[in-house]
Amino acid sequence: PIFTIVDQDTCIACGACGASAPDIFDYDDEGLAFYIADHNQGNTPIDPSLLNDLEDAVEGCPTGSIKLAEEAFNGELDKGQ
Ligand code: F3S
Repeated sequence: PIFTIVDQDTCIACGACGASAPDIFDYDDEGLAFYIADHNQGNTPIDPSLLNDLEDAVEGCPTGSIKLAEEAFNGELDKGQ
């Protein structure tokens, strides 16, 4: 399985990820992105049907803020790759 989480410390609220992957990412009141499925805890595996959207979002993020891992993040960014 693939897990994702957004590093909101480096996200610049550019808005690209929600355009590429509207079923995966939304924005908080400040425009910072978060993973919709579990409010950015990174514990819910990505639905396989959304993997292409996820790839587009990762490639399109100008700050590299969208993290991926093969294990759950439990809200901790340092599990990412
Ligand atoms: Fe932020 Fe990157 Fe999305 S900068 S709004 S996580 S494309």
